[in-house]
Amino acid sequence: MRTVNVGIIGLGTVGGGVARLILSHHDDYVANYGIDLGIARACALDAQAARACGIPDDAFTTDWHDVVSDPSVDVVVELIGGEHPATEIYEAAFAAGKHVVTANKALLGRHVEALAAKARENGVQLKCEASCGGGIPIVSTLERDLVGNKVLTIAGILNGTTNYILSRMESEGADYADVLADAQAKGYAEADPSADVDGFDAASKTAILASIGFGTRVTTDDVYQQGIRTIAAEDIAVAHDLGYTIKLLGIARRTADGVDVRVHPTMIPLDHQLAKVSGAMNAVYVVGDAVGETMFYGAGAGSFPTASAVVGDIMTLADPISKGATPLPEAEPFSHTLPLRPMDE
Ligand code: HSE
Repeated sequence: MRTVNVGIIGLGTVGGGVARLILSHHDDYVANYGIDLGIARACALDAQAARACGIPDDAFTTDWHDVVSDPSVDVVVELIGGEHPATEIYEAAFAAGKHVVTANKALLGRHVEALAAKARENGVQLKCEASCGGGIPIVSTLERDLVGNKVLTIAGILNGTTNYILSRMESEGADYADVLADAQAKGYAEADPSADVDGFDAASKTAILASIGFGTRVTTDDVYQQGIRTIAAEDIAVAHDLGYTIKLLGIARRTADGVDVRVHPTMIPLDHQLAKVSGAMNAVYVVGDAVGETMFYGAGAGSFPTASAVVGDIMTLADPISKGATPLPEAEPFSHTLPLRPMDE
């Protein structure tokens, strides 16, 4: 049995989901993987957020320093977003020899390579599966499973809000402004929807995927960016008549000179798998020189889908034989053997 303790900073939609997932699945992780995953510390603005997730009061703090400096915390989970104090949290965690798991796309979109390098210098890891595509396991796929390939193209529907808006404009002929107002009322889009509709969110995610997929330093500033504000229902109808749909795509392509990265509304043939992704869902299409075409689909946001990615990163760090993982203290042999069950059980 291996004991792994996390310290969670931020108990909002994603952080609360992570806490609930860890607490509700604890016994499964013990039984299936031999990992006793616990929440040693949790930081939020008020204790009620922690209580609502089932975190005991003595694990709660309002000061992130308490989380990072707690000697029992093996992995710091940063889920507050933004540049500060997230940067300071990473620096303190790395200096203390702790791994960091995050969903912070805005910060990583600017600095993923530099931050990952800083983690490596300290003998720890920075993991960010939840930063791109919510629950879709695309970062680890690029980081690990496709390393035998030269990745040629990554093209993704990486922003659920804009895909929801464009899908409804297409299916109902509705106006952009009307659908946006509805998306805001339903809580999909932010009150200030610029990060979504102007492509900032997709640009951050594209920069992260390009950095990892092409093994190079791509930042948000390198991404050509155009949002969906100027798309009218008529544009989508005309595209449809010509055999296309319009999606906001994040595209990263290997070129003769390097990597081309862009986010813009894109006409996609109706028979392409990406054209079939409707509503607030995400999908990523990856072409590798050996594997050919691949496609990954799932919920790009939401409490439990995103928590699934965060906990996946934590469990990977907890596994000392996974590629590149720095063993946590008191490492014990880990068994991948799962009990076999009949298919119909
Ligand atoms: N605003 C983002 C989206 C949330 O709409 O996809 C998930 O990153």
